[in-house]
Amino acid sequence: MTFLMRAHNVLSPVSSHFTQLEVVRGEGCYLYDAEGRAYLDFSSGIGVSSTGHCHPKVVKAIQDQAATLIHGCLGVVYYETPIALAEKLGQILGHGLESVFFVQSGSEAIESAIKLAKYVTKKHKIVAFRGGFHGRTLGALSLTTSKEKYRDGYAPLLEGVDFFPYPYCYRCPWGKNRETCDTSCKEELASFFEQLDDQVAAVVVELVLGEGGYTPIPEPFLIQLDRLCRDRGILLIFDEIQTGFGKTGEWFAFQKYGVVPDIIALAKGIASGLPLGACVSTKTLMSKWTTGAHGGTYGGNPVTCAAGLATLEVLESEFKQTASLAKEAMDHLNGTLKNHPYIGDIRGVGMMIGVEFVQDTHTKIPAPAFMKHVMMECLKRGLIVISCGLHDNVIRLIPPLTIDEESLKKGLNIFTEVICGHYQG
Ligand SMILES: Cc1ncc(COP(=O)(O)O)c(C=O)c1O
Repeated sequence: MTFLMRAHNVLSPVSSHFTQLEVVRGEGCYLYDAEGRAYLDFSSGIGVSSTGHCHPKVVKAIQDQAATLIHGCLGVVYYETPIALAEKLGQILGHGLESVFFVQSGSEAIESAIKLAKYVTKKHKIVAFRGGFHGRTLGALSLTTSKEKYRDGYAPLLEGVDFFPYPYCYRCPWGKNRETCDTSCKEELASFFEQLDDQVAAVVVELVLGEGGYTPIPEPFLIQLDRLCRDRGILLIFDEIQTGFGKTGEWFAFQKYGVVPDIIALAKGIASGLPLGACVSTKTLMSKWTTGAHGGTYGGNPVTCAAGLATLEVLESEFKQTASLAKEAMDHLNGTLKNHPYIGDIRGVGMMIGVEFVQDTHTKIPAPAFMKHVMMECLKRGLIVISCGLHDNVIRLIPPLTIDEESLKKGLNIFTEVICGHYQG
């Protein structure tokens, strides 16, 4: 029996799947099936495997730590790896963001961030952005609006959550386009803040809308958001679960924008695939979170944190090439696809690239069927790409940051040939 057949028998059908590919191992930027066929992985397991699959340094760190201590529980004893990883995170985050609470996933990092914000401000409301994705546990889900189906059937969710449209420039909620944009989103945001009462604990925002379509936040908007939050004593929480750990060309996207959060939620790229996340803030804020007010059995697990340390060591030397590789990728995509009739937008920050498909570049009617066709045709040719977007019409390209130039070119060629091959002119 195939993995697929066995999985259908025993794994809950609730999880969706981008492909039905069966793989047996991974190495670098490739995954391999049982026949040894290589698949170039431009999904990185949804933005996780930034060091590539089974990087030897990460594998060794996991093996060594597993042979030394697998579990002790930070609630019971102290040990090296979570402390060393927290020290390292504090260094690379800077700005006094040096007090770390470890968890196992992105959703839990968001849960922790919301709980921290509510606890220390003694306020209960949260503001999030329409189109955002922050996870699927009930608290994180209460902030998630990227797809209706994530929320359907789970009401009532957390009360006191208000939404503001995400400034998605290609489909501007205020009807502007990039050429005539007068950043009315900034004024709209200011009016929205006027209407908020004094019970808002925090605003939670992604700096590049991930699941929502790989849409970078406009810098003037983020600066305005920061100013409005500071003026009103509202905490600013950045969800850098998808954008973190070098993908944007900086360790974190906020370092690109120069706006510093009060709390940051991290996961995905932090540990090369081992389940690890973190909620990080300043010592001042964290010291107000009373001991025992939050916690967990596995947070700061020795093995996941060892993987985290090795991941940061690998990325430290590798992600510096991200900006130049990303430029190469954008030049290639713009050069080959710019005037293609089904390409609405090519955008990105660093190695987080989104290509949005439309039926017509004037009407901008989304083309999810064409997107799916591209995804499947790429897979047939040995390239794994995955989708995102509010209309499921965007392909996100997130290759490992350790990718070599040749493999990057190979993947981009497959991608653009599939797209151009489909269009007969
Ligand atoms: C921006 C963002 N926040 C939160 C999450 C939730 O993370 P997890 O799936 O690890 O719970 C994700 C996952 O895709 C994400 O992209």
